[in-house]
Amino acid sequence: MGPCWNTRKRTDLGSVYFFGAAPGVSPAGFGIYVCPVCKGRLTRSADRLLCLMCRVTYPIAEGIPDFILEDLGQSTSPVLRSVKWIDRLAGIYETRLWYPIILNLYGGLGSPSLRELVLIVTGMVGPVKGLVLDAACGPGTLGRRVAPRSTVYGVDISKGMLRKGLAFVERDHLSNVHFARAKVEELPFPDDLFDAAVCGGALHLFADTKLALREIGRTMKEGAPLAVTTFVAGNKGILRFRRVRIHVQQHHSVHVFELPQLESYLTESGFEDFLPQVYGSLLVFSARKRGVHGLEAHERPRSEGLPWTC
Ligand SMILES: C[S@@+](CC[C@H](N)C(=O)[O-])C[C@H]1O[C@@H](n2cnc3c(N)ncnc32)[C@H](O)[C@@H]1O
Ligand SMILES: [Zn+2]
Repeated sequence: MGPCWNTRKRTDLGSVYFFGAAPGVSPAGFGIYVCPVCKGRLTRSADRLLCLMCRVTYPIAEGIPDFILEDLGQSTSPVLRSVKWIDRLAGIYETRLWYPIILNLYGGLGSPSLRELVLIVTGMVGPVKGLVLDAACGPGTLGRRVAPRSTVYGVDISKGMLRKGLAFVERDHLSNVHFARAKVEELPFPDDLFDAAVCGGALHLFADTKLALREIGRTMKEGAPLAVTTFVAGNKGILRFRRVRIHVQQHHSVHVFELPQLESYLTESGFEDFLPQVYGSLLVFSARKRGVHGLEAHERPRSEGLPWTC
């Protein structure tokens, strides 16, 4: 992240206070956050961020602000309740023991590899130069790879995943990627901030898909692209079998989307230009935050990259 960008964003945001930075994290990395509840300004004090409006303190531990104050173990959502299991998964998540197995299981023999998935997603968001949201980032799997010329903010509920992400970022000397612990349904960012958003392997895990999409959209600029990897029930892939769909829904709390249903969720949540690419039961899609008025679809800025192959 260059000093010019810092100066500009600090001026743009106007409302953010800086009281020094934790080691390894630039002030702008923290300065962008707002209270996830009231969306008001935060005050930085040593190892915490304070919301004077809500009178709450959000701790910063190991360089990661934590915006989740409740015990997720007591949550009504089975996915949130299983966060300790997700923490443990972080150790193998980006290894051969997890990612390729999941891609082949759902994407079938012709499934893209993680490298190819990253190329597809990169093509969907285009050459973004500003700010990118990585929603439910895990260890920053997409964010670390898709936007090297952008500043990426990854949020996830799992400390284990975020710690792993930070370790990768430090290993690879990536100064453009920041992490925070937060729920996608309550993002600690102001409105209309991000130039693009990605959400890898998680849309199907959110208890209320439309709520999550609306919250992601709230933080995106009008016309900004969203790229998502998730699962779909079609006539190919493992999820074409009804019993498998019922199993993942009941035992893993996974929503298995159908394309028309997903498109209507997106429309109702303020997105347009839904463009899906299906590989077996694996779905990669892009959409765009609605609101670029006065321009025909073909006149709107489009992401460069790979051609669509639906
Ligand atoms: C399968 S991993 C995906 C990680 C990464 N985005 C990727 O592309 O591989 C799903 C992640 O979603 C996170 N997650 C699930 N529900 C969430 C929520 N409501 N808010 C934030 N993160 C959530 C989990 O902690 C987990 O790290
Ligand atoms: Zn607040």
